Amino acid sequence: MKLTGPFSQILTLSGIPLKGAVKDEQLEIITDGGIVTADGKIIKTGSFEKLRNEFPNAEIEEIKGKNVLLPGFIDSHTHICFGGKRAKDFAMRLNGKTYLEIAESGGGIWSSVTNTRNETEEQLFQSTFERAERLIKNGITTIEIKSGYGLSPEHEIKILKVINRVKDQSKATIVPTFLGAHMKPRDFEGTNLEYLQLLVNEVFPIIKSENLAKRIDIFTEKSAFSIEESRAYLQKAKENGFEITVHADQFTPGASVMAVEFGAMSADHLEFSDENDIRALSGSDTVATALPGASIGLGMQYAPARKLLDSGACLAIASDWNPGSAPMGDLLTQASILATFEKLSMAEVLSGITFRSAKALNLTDRGVLEIGKKADFISFPTDDFRDIIYNQGQLKPNQVWKRGVQIS
Ligand code: NIG
Ligand code: FE
Repeated sequence: MKLTGPFSQILTLSGIPLKGAVKDEQLEIITDGGIVTADGKIIKTGSFEKLRNEFPNAEIEEIKGKNVLLPGFIDSHTHICFGGKRAKDFAMRLNGKTYLEIAESGGGIWSSVTNTRNETEEQLFQSTFERAERLIKNGITTIEIKSGYGLSPEHEIKILKVINRVKDQSKATIVPTFLGAHMKPRDFEGTNLEYLQLLVNEVFPIIKSENLAKRIDIFTEKSAFSIEESRAYLQKAKENGFEITVHADQFTPGASVMAVEFGAMSADHLEFSDENDIRALSGSDTVATALPGASIGLGMQYAPARKLLDSGACLAIASDWNPGSAPMGDLLTQASILATFEKLSMAEVLSGITFRSAKALNLTDRGVLEIGKKADFISFPTDDFRDIIYNQGQLKPNQVWKRGVQIS
């Protein structure tokens, strides 16, 4: 058993509802706090001095200076397993070309597929692992990683295996997601539905038998898969026992309504969600995930985060780190910027990157500093939690713990 502290402030994130708007006053703040952990779990949080008396045999992990402790961040949507880069696409966008025009002229997702296919498993493993390391340094202790730059049974399986190797070796929790349905590959001669059928017939059984992922994602969009095509695929995913998440409403509305109908864990993007989408998400258990990194990367509007929260939705925020639309890969910076444009409280931002994004991954064992939860937490070198969002990502965590052990 170990007692870590004292911390100037501990933000437990405890007691905040899973859904809807949150005021900063709802944040539970323990001053001069400590946290007791054992076997990777939280035993208790409270006043450091009181805990020292209550647990006289606990080993003391002393914290020096000003520090604010909070749950490790959870990035519930990334595409960090990829080869190459897309700086050329970015330059074209700055010259006025749209994301879709660039895709049509040979850039876009397909160029990343070519680059990813050309890399060996070892190369892909190294670059993905290094990106995960960077996320850990930034306080992210649980990372979702999607496939989706292979787009053939062979290459998608290869990528899922790489992600699982990262899962085995990273100090963070890695959650793999199958996104074979990112777009129909250019070298597939057949319809969208035939490609999706191929994934169902040839990839689903391997994912299941080799336990490569529990979650299925699809890019539902005019330029990728229509709502009708997505429905057929998601029905099969459900029948196969997978959890569902959807790339929804990035450029056109309607996919969130569908995601909710299928009981998706989350609908992500939402830049173009309309009133029907917002109503459906708010009235459901599907987490509404904003991806401000894609808005910043593409120079597009943000997801209607304020409206979603005020209508009662569970709002998570994730980085969408990928080589195309969201190359920055800095969740805290992006979430802080989303907050200024959408007028989110600091409590809403912090909830969106902790227990609410945990919910998007169907994880209820983390994201709050409560008894029995995973001892994943991070500290920032300040005595005022507001400095974290105020510095818009430039104040970095100085310590990161995973299952009670300091990893950064
Ligand atoms: O979430 N929208 C689809 N997929 C990714 C982008 C992928 C890419 O541009 O390479 C996204 O933004
Ligand atoms: Fe994405």
